[in-house]
Amino acid sequence: MIPYGRQSIDDEDIAAVVAVLQGDWLTQGPHIESFEHALAERIHARHVVAFANGTAALHGAAAASRLGPTDTVCTSPLSFIASANCARYVGAKVTFADIDPKTLNLDPAKIPGDATGLVAVHYAGLPLDLRGLTSRPRVVIEDAAHALGATTPDGPVGNCAHSDATVFSFHPVKAITTGEGGAVSTNDDEIAERLLAFRNHGIVRKPARGAWAYEISELGFNYRLTDIQAALGTSQLAKLDRFIVARQRLAERYRKALADLPVELPPEPHPGFSHAYHLFPVQVDRRDQVFSAMRNTGIGVQIHYIPISSQPLYRAASPPVPNADSAFARLLSLPLHPGLTTDEQDQVIGALAASL
Ligand SMILES: Cc1ncc(COP(=O)(O)O)c(C=O)c1O
Repeated sequence: MIPYGRQSIDDEDIAAVVAVLQGDWLTQGPHIESFEHALAERIHARHVVAFANGTAALHGAAAASRLGPTDTVCTSPLSFIASANCARYVGAKVTFADIDPKTLNLDPAKIPGDATGLVAVHYAGLPLDLRGLTSRPRVVIEDAAHALGATTPDGPVGNCAHSDATVFSFHPVKAITTGEGGAVSTNDDEIAERLLAFRNHGIVRKPARGAWAYEISELGFNYRLTDIQAALGTSQLAKLDRFIVARQRLAERYRKALADLPVELPPEPHPGFSHAYHLFPVQVDRRDQVFSAMRNTGIGVQIHYIPISSQPLYRAASPPVPNADSAFARLLSLPLHPGLTTDEQDQVIGALAASL
């Protein structure tokens, strides 16, 4: 099966992990901060706090930016469930803004007036234009699980030019991987401090009282990334630019090869923006038949996503989102990752053409 996404691991990555395994610190050691600093520098953010996975990072971002039970948090229905669940974890209400069919991102004009929080998803790696927010909710968190390596007119995604915090995931199908892993970036010193405590049981060290002293005033979790994972992350990050260029080249090749087929191509970035191409989601008629036909020939197509608003957990409280519902019925993610060969890509193109 040609998978829709896959990690790209080389000998340098393996050597970086082995070196940690042979050293003193498997967790809570110096590799975590090294990774955080390297990522902060890459995305032009003041702080980065690493987490055990992207979902934990979203939970941390929601808690550290003080979202809670009096808040209503709006997100895109066309996303992974964690984009909504993070608000529920802190007791907030969740609502949805329908997508703009031209970008597949949420339509800022549809954010309800009573939303006090926004989880702004950069679907497939195409940045949502946050300059278009007419009234900014009190808290804006970017869910950039798909968008590490993308840029906006204000700089790299993650620099929080228009948000309080940005969240990344380092799951193996993402731009870089740590196995499981995630991170939050922020330019706010207080949010950064709260994130550090939140990922470590709420523990705040009190060195003035002694090297052993600590205090816990707020609930926290064990959401730590290990040094083994962090070393892999630092090694992977050095290759991020190369990975993104490879994804963009493959995406352009798909665009040319599919131009004459009855296929709606993914939205292109507006001037000043660049696409990280975590996904290459096309839209086709008879999507379920095309999905099955391609899977039957060994092409690991995938569907991103069943709208969160249609899940039983959210259905009853969701406003209508007709654009997300009709996009979902036609969406099909084609395989795209830096290690995809042109031969494999030609197989995908041939199988798609044959199944339309
Ligand atoms: C948009 C989005 N947000 C959050 C997450 C959660 O990340 P993780 O799988 O690292 O918990 C994902 C993972 O696929 C995602 O696609």
